[in-house]
Amino acid sequence: MDILVIGSGGREHALIWKLNQSNKIENIYSIPGNGGITNLAETVNISLDNHEKIIKFVKENNIELTIVGPELPLVKGIVDKFQKENLKIFGPKKEGAILEGSKLYSKNFMEKYNIPTAKHIEIKEYNIGLNYIEELNLEDYPIVLKADGLAAGKGVIIARDKNEAIEGLDRLMKSKDFGSSGEKIIIEEYLDGIEASLICLCDGKTIVPLESVKDYKKAFNNDLGLNTGGMGTYSPNKYYTEEIDDKVRQKILDNIIKGFEKEGIEYKGVLFIGLMLEEGEPKVLEFNARFGDPETQALMIRLETDLLELIESVLEGTLDKQEIKWSDKPSVCVILASEGYPLGYEKGKKINGLECIENSTVFHSGTKITNNKFYTNGGRVLGVVGLGDTLEKAIETVYEDVRIIDFEGKQYRTDIGM
Ligand SMILES: Nc1ncnc2c1ncn2[C@@H]1O[C@H](COP(=O)(O)OP(=O)(O)O)[C@@H](O)[C@H]1O
Ligand SMILES: [Mg+2]
Repeated sequence: MDILVIGSGGREHALIWKLNQSNKIENIYSIPGNGGITNLAETVNISLDNHEKIIKFVKENNIELTIVGPELPLVKGIVDKFQKENLKIFGPKKEGAILEGSKLYSKNFMEKYNIPTAKHIEIKEYNIGLNYIEELNLEDYPIVLKADGLAAGKGVIIARDKNEAIEGLDRLMKSKDFGSSGEKIIIEEYLDGIEASLICLCDGKTIVPLESVKDYKKAFNNDLGLNTGGMGTYSPNKYYTEEIDDKVRQKILDNIIKGFEKEGIEYKGVLFIGLMLEEGEPKVLEFNARFGDPETQALMIRLETDLLELIESVLEGTLDKQEIKWSDKPSVCVILASEGYPLGYEKGKKINGLECIENSTVFHSGTKITNNKFYTNGGRVLGVVGLGDTLEKAIETVYEDVRIIDFEGKQYRTDIGM
């Protein structure tokens, strides 16, 4: 069959790389894709906002299955529109994607179905937020302020004192840094612990976690610097123990399925659960309605089952009978970013050394190809991903290749997996 993958990041490159190994797939299309994806798929430049044009393209090219990478098309209802046209698409409908699209909705969902999470209050007006902050005591800090709507991973502010809390409130509700996403906000309790990402497949009735992954969000070593889209990952996550896994299944996954049943939500797709492990207790920070990036890069390299088979079992509702095989070998993904990321950065730097990489797999995020040469075209540029008999060996292999690839302003963490 011919398929389409929507999106342009390392996540989409990794998914396409894996789907390309399926013997049931003939042609892969990618909207809009990136430099690296051009080697595996036909990239087509259609705006991700233009769902009608994407549907027209799918019909004209007899594409049998569409896979959605990023959250925005899901939250805007691309799946509902495809289904109306009887076109097969992988991802939750609007009613499910709202778990990512509205943090307030998802907090209320968690509370209603007894899913452990930080205590929160909803703030609908600036003045009410200000009064709330005025009445807090010194020992109530830190607190966490979150824009309700999508904010490209930038709408969460951790305030350590009253000044920072008011400053955060101002950014969200006064200067409206995140536009209508900050019309309503959440103020929640700060959870102290270790973060873990759990990416699950869900067919509406069954929810199956994929292998655990640890991600590194901060720009620099030792978790210093600003939050980014992610500077690296490794899998399996050494902090995600069997004991934690048991608790996650009992207190979180089972209750999510109960919630879907009670609310009448038919959730088919990926459910990404951001967790904080607080003194051995898993608590949900947030839900995402899609694969994580760069988590997906470290996972696809370890996945042995045909990804198309998994996607079809989600769509057919047979996930309970589906086996998922993984390589025993740990994987590591190191992101090479442009100097300055996650703030301002330059684009258009020539990338050298890619042809010398033998032991790792390189997934492209922000790259473009001109006259068969690759150039940087984004904040996160490449993900270098490797497997090893041990985590230490995987780290060694990946960092050898990280040093071979070169472009002006190359910036990366040297402590991924350590
Ligand atoms: N209640 C909390 N306690 C401590 N840290 C938090 C809390 N909520 C969010 N964070 C931190 O902020 C990051 C972003 O928050 P998250 O809810 O995942 O929103 P988003 O990914 O949409 O920005 C988290 O990965 C975590 O590091
Ligand atoms: Mg998050």
